[in-house]
Amino acid sequence: MALRRLLLSTALFGAAYGGLVQKPNLVVPPAFGPYAAEVKEMFVGSYEAYKTYAWGFDDLYPMSKTGGNGRNGWGATIVDSMSTMYIMGLTDLFEEAVEFSSKIDFTQSKIPDKVSVFETTIRFLGGLLSAYEMSDGKYPALIERATELTDKMAYAWIGDNNIPHGFLNFTDNTAFIARTNIAEAGTLLLEWETLSKHTGNNTYAELTLRSQRHIASLPSPFPGLAVTWIQPDTGEWIGGYITWGGAADSYYEYLIKHARLSNTDDHLFADVWATAVDSSIHNLMKTSTVGNFTYLADFDSNSTIRHIGSHLACFHGGNWIYGGKLINNETIVNYGLDLVEGCWNTYSNTPSGIGPESFGYASSEGEYSGDTEPISDKQREFYNRTGFYPRNTNYILRPEVLESNFYAWRATGDTKYLERAVSAIKAFKKNLLAPSGGYASLDDVTLVEGPKLDFTESFWYAETLKYLYLTFDDPNHINIDEWVFNTEAHPFKAPLPKDTYAAPSRYQRPAPTRAWVLQGDPEDVDPGYYSVNPDRPGPTSAQRIFDTWN
Ligand SMILES: *[C@@H]1O[C@H](CO)[C@@H](O)[C@H](O)[C@H]1NC(C)=O
Ligand SMILES: *[C@@H]1O[C@H](CO)[C@@H](O)[C@H](O)[C@H]1NC(C)=O
Ligand SMILES: *[C@@H]1O[C@H](CO)[C@@H](O)[C@H](O)[C@H]1NC(C)=O
Ligand SMILES: *[C@@H]1O[C@H](CO)[C@@H](O)[C@H](O)[C@H]1NC(C)=O
Ligand SMILES: *[C@@H]1O[C@H](CO)[C@@H](O)[C@H](O)[C@H]1NC(C)=O
Ligand SMILES: *[C@@H]1O[C@H](CO)[C@@H](O)[C@H](O)[C@H]1NC(C)=O
Repeated sequence: MALRRLLLSTALFGAAYGGLVQKPNLVVPPAFGPYAAEVKEMFVGSYEAYKTYAWGFDDLYPMSKTGGNGRNGWGATIVDSMSTMYIMGLTDLFEEAVEFSSKIDFTQSKIPDKVSVFETTIRFLGGLLSAYEMSDGKYPALIERATELTDKMAYAWIGDNNIPHGFLNFTDNTAFIARTNIAEAGTLLLEWETLSKHTGNNTYAELTLRSQRHIASLPSPFPGLAVTWIQPDTGEWIGGYITWGGAADSYYEYLIKHARLSNTDDHLFADVWATAVDSSIHNLMKTSTVGNFTYLADFDSNSTIRHIGSHLACFHGGNWIYGGKLINNETIVNYGLDLVEGCWNTYSNTPSGIGPESFGYASSEGEYSGDTEPISDKQREFYNRTGFYPRNTNYILRPEVLESNFYAWRATGDTKYLERAVSAIKAFKKNLLAPSGGYASLDDVTLVEGPKLDFTESFWYAETLKYLYLTFDDPNHINIDEWVFNTEAHPFKAPLPKDTYAAPSRYQRPAPTRAWVLQGDPEDVDPGYYSVNPDRPGPTSAQRIFDTWN
């Protein structure tokens, strides 16, 4: 580690210091130091509630003080928490979780349910690999479990398909034949290539590279931007919906993070990412008529702009800052910072101080959102005051807004991002703290201390509390130029950065081969849709579908 740091600082003061994201010599001012301990306490309280009421289950139900299995019954919260425990120095909890994880039987689903290749990859495989790497290879059983699990998941590629099916039956190793999306098929690469690195079996990397390359190479309505839905057996798009939100989001995230983690000489990934950003600037970026906030709109299968945004999509600000720095493009970094402002507005302007699952706005080009219901008077009044209006008012403990806030802090050193993280801690404690000592989801962020929903997603432990903690932690402890985070915030060890990840000449995506004015995909899904049934704790079917877009 000491050597790596020395090499990194040499890279820093060398002639070319592109490829680095974190501001040099960044220090958290002493006044903000104590908040790291406060977030650690929140983590311990949340996890103790899980241990007391839901140990061994996937998820804690923090209101009814019980647990349930939404992730095949393998103990998702335990596996997903390991890298956060390691970072926070919670050694006893970490070792207990490693002990548990080393004995999971991943060859069978513990509940009669499908296995999501995407969710299993980002939470379980990502959690195992990161815990293995962070603890310097001390627990080889983590790699053994990861291998058993991934050998089963490999059945998602049927015949010579480039695109895997999204769901598997682990009993008979068959795939559920259905449409998938670019998030499910394009958010596997970091984990699977890391498994190849530790096992020497290159098949994992090859399978997932095939999928990523396929998506990145298909012609689409705008250069670089991919269509959200895809048919694995034909490899063709379904409809023409384009979004940085659910069902697409982390495909874009992994394009640039793969370039960084692998240091590949293949320019495809960084170039398609940069091209997607460029197309988004020209076609999707809108400013609100109230407040002049920057948002990224969706583009639907009917070639119409939808003036909507979502909590999930709010990873984009941090991602543009990160990728913009890697390819030495400050224009992209600055747009990323604008997106961070727009997403933070959805927190700072709600009575709870927490942002909604999805929102809408108006630009000079209109206010079409795709919703069948017209904008209500209440929403309009909200918009007139704040520059956005909630569409789905839930908050289900998602990380993206604080994730982007974290990248903005580490890249700029502007302490306003630390102040924002402090206000999020206060809002979480006030609105989410449940009788179990755990943290619950919120039904309506426009109320102060409104009704809670009886569910704690494992990403609360893996992502939200980790990004909050790291915001106040010593920036040299987990330096973002030494680790690449998977989409569930599990850090993987990165090689020293290249000077730049930009290609000598910008990749040109093939022009569209047919008109993209489609009749409209009847299943154009509003990525902001999410609901929890308070009478029946645990994931509802709508939530289960939505979860696959995390
Ligand atoms: C998985 O396959 C087994 C054996 O064919 C079958 O009994 C079971 O119902 C299937 N599970 C699901 C969720 O379809
Ligand atoms: C490598 O992984 C693939 C995919 O799971 C598997 O089929 C193959 O048997 C593995 N090869 C070795 C040598 O273990
Ligand atoms: C930086 O990105 C912007 C936005 O995509 C683009 O217009 C510009 O040409 C890029 N600059 C360089 C030097 O590539
Ligand atoms: C709106 O915001 C953009 C940056 O996001 C800024 O360049 C522009 O000057 C602002 N316009 C007004 C009228 O404030
Ligand atoms: C498609 O867009 C056109 C205008 O661009 C609009 O008139 C039409 O109603 C839209 N169709 C659907 C199904 O949304
Ligand atoms: C919102 O503002 C618009 C434009 O200024 C105005 O026409 C409308 O009446 C306002 N609506 C509400 C509900 O405040």
